[in-house]
Amino acid sequence: MVPRQIPGVGWFLVTTPTWPHRRGEREVTLLDGVVVRLRRLKKSDIDAVIALHRQLDDREQYMRFFVAHPPYLEKVAEKLVERSATQYAIGAFEDDALIGVANYVRSQDPAAAEMAVAVAHHNHLRGVATALLRHLADVAGRKGIRYFDADVLADNNLMLKVLRDPGWRCTKRFDGPVLHVRIDVSTMDGGSAAPNSGRRATPGECAP
Ligand SMILES: CC(C)(COP(=O)(O)OP(=O)(O)OC[C@H]1O[C@@H](n2cnc3c(N)ncnc32)[C@H](O)[C@@H]1OP(=O)(O)O)[C@@H](O)C(=O)NCCC(=O)NCCS
Repeated sequence: MVPRQIPGVGWFLVTTPTWPHRRGEREVTLLDGVVVRLRRLKKSDIDAVIALHRQLDDREQYMRFFVAHPPYLEKVAEKLVERSATQYAIGAFEDDALIGVANYVRSQDPAAAEMAVAVAHHNHLRGVATALLRHLADVAGRKGIRYFDADVLADNNLMLKVLRDPGWRCTKRFDGPVLHVRIDVSTMDGGSAAPNSGRRATPGECAP
């Protein structure tokens, strides 16, 4: 368990595996104490994946897709539930309801992959994105991926908060309103290394 201080609330033990599951699957405890299951998406999840992206508000859709009202959500969902060697998508499930998705798509450079995340509107600030990305990093590290690349809009404060997670070592570069971030997956709760192995970077290193 990783103790974290939530301002004005106190210390909580969060986003740490509570029970070993089948490979690629884990349970985590969120900031509010609720246990959710993280697992790879499959074809039968497609309607839930579409619904999750549809219920993001306009600003959240813009933050995720860089356009308002993306017309291609079905196509995005089809890609996310597809199982292939080039992409991997994880869902967070609370009582079988999908509340968040994180995925990576391998880049031409075999050591790198593009990652993205979206959490259902009413489930923000519970630690869902952090838990998903840590688990995704664990999976990616086992598959030889060393870096996650992400393009984040500079005013996406919530995503910048996620990236500020202490211990995530990264490089970053601004290109107009977009922040290009490259995160070392071995520092994100694992990669293939043991969680909390002591390889900690300076808090705040991964976001401006
Ligand atoms: C950005 C997004 C994915 C974040 O998801 P989330 O599940 O709310 O993120 P988390 O809860 O894991 O973390 C958010 C931050 O709030 C903190 N937080 C969580 N609960 C908190 C609370 N009660 N009080 C204070 N801070 C809290 C977390 O600790 C974290 O900050 P930290 O890592 O610096 O500690 C979500 O807002 C979203 O889906 N946005 C739209 C899509 C998007 O922008 N995607 C990113 C494109 S790359």
